Amino acid sequence: MPTIQTQVPLPPLKDLTDDNITENTVIVNNQSSSPRLRYLFNRLVTHLHDFAREVRLSEEEWIAAIMFLTACGQICTDTRQEFILLSDVLGLSCLVDAMNHPKPANGTAGTVLGPFHTHDALEFEQGESICSSGKGEPALVRCKVTDTSGNPLAGVSVDIWETDETGHYDTQYADRAGPDCRGILTTDREGRITFKAIRPVSYPIPHDGPVGKLLERLGRHPYRPAHMHFKFIKDGFDVLVTSLYIRGDAYETTDAVFGVKSSLIVDLEHISDEDLAQEYELSPEDWLLEYDFVLVSDQEATELKIKNAERALKTLGVTVAVVDGLPIDAIE
Ligand code: BEZ
Ligand code: FE
Repeated sequence: MPTIQTQVPLPPLKDLTDDNITENTVIVNNQSSSPRLRYLFNRLVTHLHDFAREVRLSEEEWIAAIMFLTACGQICTDTRQEFILLSDVLGLSCLVDAMNHPKPANGTAGTVLGPFHTHDALEFEQGESICSSGKGEPALVRCKVTDTSGNPLAGVSVDIWETDETGHYDTQYADRAGPDCRGILTTDREGRITFKAIRPVSYPIPHDGPVGKLLERLGRHPYRPAHMHFKFIKDGFDVLVTSLYIRGDAYETTDAVFGVKSSLIVDLEHISDEDLAQEYELSPEDWLLEYDFVLVSDQEATELKIKNAERALKTLGVTVAVVDGLPIDAIE
């Protein structure tokens, strides 16, 4: 028998009741040498048990939940992540993003990454199209990237991805030949990127699996409003994952994954200007999308994260040690 190292004297774990099972489960988990893991599992077990007590969880419901999670696992592949989808539709992804990437008032809001970002997007030059020809309604996209003081940021890597005109990402096609409707541009000296793409359309999140069935049972639709995804990376700055949403979309206020923020809704106009259209070999009738993004420095984000953590814990009436904005169980 291996020897179990215990940091705390263990009570005899028998004859446990619904009144003391929680306390004893926490004690046995406290053998972990990680203060953060101890805190996470203390709170997880406490909330999970209280949930079961409060709803008087029936055996049928307990097994239904187990079968649901099993089905989520079974449908997962290298390109299908049902658990992230579950986190998205439960609003957890939105919450985790907001806590981990806080923004000052003038920082561009972040939003859900979603499951369709890939690591094989090609690099494009200014003015090129990230979509292969024949896709959707052409759109010229012009963006500027600055810091929170308004200084243009050169050399920012900007990863962009969107669906085709049918609402499918390239990765959703079995015969995908390579990346399409996605690309990486780097901001110029003035912090600008200009590229061609297509007018975004609304589309349903993958809903042929357990999460889709759950949405149906909850009386919810699976649609996301039309959007284009962006991910900004620059040394010294907090990574910004966000999207721009097209104003007036039918799903603007009922996004299945809670990603829409007013500050990210943009007007899609016609290019109109003949010279501008000609410069990019487009027609004045094609679409124009313009937006200025503001990145938050690592230091600003870290300070804000710690401040927000302290305020949230105070509001919850929790008094614990906090290290780097994360509460821990400091008792050794
Ligand atoms: C997306 O916008 O690509 C997305 C986000 C969350 C879940 C599914 C799709
Ligand atoms: Fe999307």
